Parts: sequence; C-alpha cells; structure tokens
Amino acid sequence: MTANSQDLQLRERAAKVIPNGMYGHESTVLMPPSFPQFFERAEGTYLWDADGNKYLDLMCAYGPNLLGYGRAEVNAAIRRQLDKADTTTGPSPLMVELAETLTSMISHADWAMFCKNGTDATTMAMTCARSTTGKRIILVAEGAYHGAAPWCTPRPNGVVPEEKAFIRKYVYNDIASLEAAVEAAGDDLAGVFATPFRHEAFQDQFEVTREYARRARALCDKAGAMLIVDEIRTGFRLSRDCSWEQFGGLCCKD
Ligand SMILES: Cc1ncc(COP(=O)(O)O)c(C=O)c1O
Repeated sequence: MTANSQDLQLRERAAKVIPNGMYGHESTVLMPPSFPQFFERAEGTYLWDADGNKYLDLMCAYGPNLLGYGRAEVNAAIRRQLDKADTTTGPSPLMVELAETLTSMISHADWAMFCKNGTDATTMAMTCARSTTGKRIILVAEGAYHGAAPWCTPRPNGVVPEEKAFIRKYVYNDIASLEAAVEAAGDDLAGVFATPFRHEAFQDQFEVTREYARRARALCDKAGAMLIVDEIRTGFRLSRDCSWEQFGGLCCKD
C-alpha cells in the first residue's frame, strides 16, 4: 500500500459518479499528484487524509474553520440543537439571537442575513445594490473571485454574455483604473465589489492601500453607488469588525 492508495481509489470511484471526479475548491487536480483530496478526520489544527496521513491545516478549510476542528463547545452546541430540531419548517428562535449578536458586534451592521455560501452572499449583495440604487452596473476587479454564479464565475462554460452584461472590470487596488471605470459607468453605477486582501489562487497576495480604500469609498458615495466589501475570505480573520476599515477605508457612507 502506498501512502496515498486510499485517496487514489476514492478518486477513481469519484470519477465515475461526480462530475470531473470533483469540482470547485474541492478539486486538487492542479496540485502535485501526492496532494490528498479526501480527508477523514480533523481535530484542532490537524487533518488526517483517507490514508491516515496527518497534516497541519494551514488552509483552515479555505477559511471557514475559524475556531479549530472539533472544538468541544461548538460541537456541544450543534448536538444540543440537533436533539431539539433540525431543518424545521420555519427557522429556529436562534436565528434572531444570532442576528442580534452579529449586529451588536459589527459596528456598521444594522441587519444580518443568512445564506449557505459565499456565492449566495455576493449575489444578494449585488441584487441589494441594484435594488437600492435603481441602477445596473457593477464593477468587479479583474481576476477577482466572487463566486460561481453566472454573473461572477471565471469559467466561460454555460454562461451567456448577457448574464455579465452589466458587470464591468477595473484593476484591483489601482485608483486611476477604478476612477476610469466609475466615470465610464456614468449615472448607471449600482455598486463596486472590493476585497480588502487580494488572495486569488495563482496570484501574489497583497492588501489594498489606505489611499485606495478611502478613494473607493469616496467614489461610491459620490456616484450614489454601494461599496460592497466581500469578506467571504477575510471576515472575522483580519478583523472582528470590517477589514476594509483596518486598511483605512470606511465601510459605511462617509
Ligand atoms: C472573496 C470570495 N467571495 C466569494 C466566494 C464564493 O464563496 P463560495 O465558494 O462559498 O460560494 C469566495 C470563495 O472562495 C471568495 O474567496
């Protein structure tokens, strides 16, 4: 048995029943062949793959694992709730408690909305920006990842140009480029997507500059557009509040 024989067998089985053997972030086809795709166990900061190899998980499940795997208080709370009710016809009273907690700990948050993944959150943010402003154009940094819906997926398959018709590009962290894109949008600018920290795969990672963070806020305020800070990766990691403010920008209208 090699150190990854179970993983290889699982990949073979997956190839028969799962598109491409795996999709999205879960696919490791671009990693070295020995990189495991399947993990069986996790505890604290460690992961064990299907062959029992142990890893220190510096990826933190691509972000969401903030508190470590299998943390006793978290697991106990999940079990408590499971014993009471799971997937009920209406939401649990805990929904209100969680919304109250989030809005009290995040200084700019008046409301909290819940969704099942990042794509849903960015799509809802885009829809809210259009609905609030009554405008159509959304600016997105070139190469920035905001999810897998037709309006934002970097993959061309199955997407028709009309679905991206009102999505326009600018260069990340480049004030002149953002200014030009805002200018070109004229009076039809609904929102600008921003991420406090550039983290796209296969690109160098860096933060926005203070000048850029402030300018993006000012440009949006002037145009009556929404500055949409996508914190799917950075939220609660770079800052307990809004990471944009950590880099000198303002989350809310000045
Ligand atoms: C900044 C950012 N926004 C949105 C998303 C989409 O999140 P999800 O894959 O949960 O739909 C991602 C995913 O990596 C992301 O990094």
